[in-house]
Amino acid sequence: MPIPAGLTAAGTRDSPFTPIWPLADLPVGAMRRFTHVDLDLLVAHTAMGICVSDDRCPHMSAPLSIGSLDECVVACPLHRGRFDLETGETVQFPTTGGLDADGGYHSPWMPVDGPPKAEPTDLKARARALTRVRRLRYYTIRIVDGMIEVKVPL
Ligand code: FES
Repeated sequence: MPIPAGLTAAGTRDSPFTPIWPLADLPVGAMRRFTHVDLDLLVAHTAMGICVSDDRCPHMSAPLSIGSLDECVVACPLHRGRFDLETGETVQFPTTGGLDADGGYHSPWMPVDGPPKAEPTDLKARARALTRVRRLRYYTIRIVDGMIEVKVPL
């Protein structure tokens, strides 16, 4: 899958490729975490192909690899944010609300299938409102002899 324009992870352009796993170990619809030193990566086999991004939700850094994948959309397990891995865009804003990547404010919302809970009105609420949902960052991959390889920062 091509990396969306401007969303390649910093510091990877001149990096060597590092083997991850055989492509056969990651069927379409699967996603897993790959850890390299202290870098946790999400490796997803979407309907559009393989992609690798940080295994950190662009909201509050939860591991996306334990969320769910539907075609190209990954759902975060923490606040129900959903992100399109093909475009890098937010499909559904987190329940906590906050700022989008361009700085626009989004209100908190309650899932209809969950118990209602009181919204905090204190410093915690202010912190939520000021939390920015960034765009995903991607790592360049290639497939060589059936092996997935990724460029990780030096
Ligand atoms: S940490 Fe993923 S939606 Fe909040």
